Amino acid sequence: MRILFVCLGNICRSPMAEGVMRHLVAEQGLSRQIEVDSAGTSNYHIGAQPHTGTLKVLREHGIDLQHAARQFKPSDGERFDVLVAMDGDNLADMQQTLGKNGAKIHYLLDFIADGPRGRGVPDPWYTGDFNEVYRLIEAACRGLLEHIQQEHLDRPQGNR
Ligand code: 4NP
Repeated sequence: MRILFVCLGNICRSPMAEGVMRHLVAEQGLSRQIEVDSAGTSNYHIGAQPHTGTLKVLREHGIDLQHAARQFKPSDGERFDVLVAMDGDNLADMQQTLGKNGAKIHYLLDFIADGPRGRGVPDPWYTGDFNEVYRLIEAACRGLLEHIQQEHLDRPQGNR
């Protein structure tokens, strides 16, 4: 099972989601079953480390992240089982890159139970509020992991 989180720059939101999700996956002892990565729809920051605000809030929650920004590419649609966009612009850009494979893209915050559908993760590049973004991303990643465990990992062999 491979999960890819996607935002615009791949330095603020999607690497934060990558770090949080990998941490939750490790807590559940699922690191060998679930692979986590992130990418950006733009080429603005290719090769860059995550934003210091993202690294700081992750560190405050005991999460260490190594990631160099990369751009989302058509082959990501085949390599990853779950594609997760941070907002509607990301989703539209991903659909354009993927063409017909775009159907399996999800909004991250749709994995928060009982929340509004299609809600975007606010971009801390503009808001500066990395703590708010962390809270949203953590809640959604918990929901996403539960969803994956129920839908993809718990079923008997041969029934996937
Ligand atoms: P991200 O935030 O998409 O969450 O990584 C941004 C990072 C950089 C820019 C915009 C958003 N930028 O315009 O450079």
